[in-house]
Amino acid sequence: MLLMTPGPTAVDPRVIAAMNRPAIAHYHPHFFEVLDRTMEMLKTIFGTSGDVIVLPGGGRVGMEAAIASIVEPGDRLLHIVNGLFGELFVEIARRVGADNTLLESGWGQPLNLERVEDALQRGRFKALTVVHSETSVGAQNPIGEIGKICEEHDVLYVVDAVSSLACMPLKMDEMGIDLCITASQKGLGGIIGLSMVGVSERAYEVMRQRSTPCQSFALDLCRWREMFFDHEYPRPYPVVPSTHLVYALHKACEIILEEGLETRFQRHRSIAEATRRAIEALGLELFPQRQVATESLTAVRPPEGLEEGEITALMRDKYDVMIGGGLRKLKGQLFRISHMGVQASAEYLTPTLVALERALADLGYPVVFGTSVNTFMESLVSSTKESALPESNKASTNSN
Ligand SMILES: Cc1ncc(COP(=O)(O)O)c(C=O)c1O
Repeated sequence: MLLMTPGPTAVDPRVIAAMNRPAIAHYHPHFFEVLDRTMEMLKTIFGTSGDVIVLPGGGRVGMEAAIASIVEPGDRLLHIVNGLFGELFVEIARRVGADNTLLESGWGQPLNLERVEDALQRGRFKALTVVHSETSVGAQNPIGEIGKICEEHDVLYVVDAVSSLACMPLKMDEMGIDLCITASQKGLGGIIGLSMVGVSERAYEVMRQRSTPCQSFALDLCRWREMFFDHEYPRPYPVVPSTHLVYALHKACEIILEEGLETRFQRHRSIAEATRRAIEALGLELFPQRQVATESLTAVRPPEGLEEGEITALMRDKYDVMIGGGLRKLKGQLFRISHMGVQASAEYLTPTLVALERALADLGYPVVFGTSVNTFMESLVSSTKESALPESNKASTNSN
């Protein structure tokens, strides 16, 4: 089975192999070393000189840790919502007593930055939340620009980078991000089950100044600074780490840094563009507006008269390729092809496009076999030529 879902993603076999070791106590010196090295590599990947905390649990555990650590009952939060995961922030914040304001632009629709500026000018907010790459709709938000607006208004900036980190440019410190959340099973190419949160000094300061204790014990991020980072070996853990998932993450981070972040971003950009062109060559429509399509996955509307569920089920059951479907209110309205980490390659996308063509044809949609793969390859070849040109001669290969 070729795993082309936008999380969990397929992983490099070296990541799986890294877990093939005996059980180890999480307080063994060797494990502390591996965890420390992993956190150091994560700091480079997050673009921060601050802490990156590794928590057991998926992306939403990190989202909840970030929100629970800074929010006190009654605190005002501004949430940018253009997909399911933007909504998740709202629900998490509601449960810790936040006074939520939503800035909605329709699922998959571009965000108007003037509305962000306007909302922050009119009201005083403690924090703003946004999802960088909205996996539910395949669209991205301009996190650099939003960061500048947050800085002008002195608002804590919380970014969900679950499906963007290590696929798309993100520099936590440069972009003024105070809390940046990701998960192991997406762009990082690790095994499902870990969440990482980058924390700025400013965010820690807000946590220290709380007048009420954090409502969560296990997810209180400030305990990491006080109990863990400020101590020498043997350091107490605020939460027991998942040892073998950390070994896998350590390998995944090594693979990312060996490739180099800029090279990796360029690979994702070229693959994303080639996939979009392949889809359009089949006469299908992208779900988000093209200029905001994310580099991590491609979300597609099923052709008129065909059910998304039929396409994804045929691809899985007959052609052995698993892609994602529509979530919640978008069930039936789109399917999603992931291209994160190892998936962002011709090796993974060629069989995926072949399976898609076959499934569409089985369902009666007119397909000239080979159309999408040829277009995909042509696009990749032209972007490879393009990236070999000197900087001054380059036209944009990226339509975003
Ligand atoms: C953008 C985004 N945020 C948050 C999450 C939640 O992560 P998890 O499912 O690991 O809890 C996901 C998962 O798909 C996601 O894509």
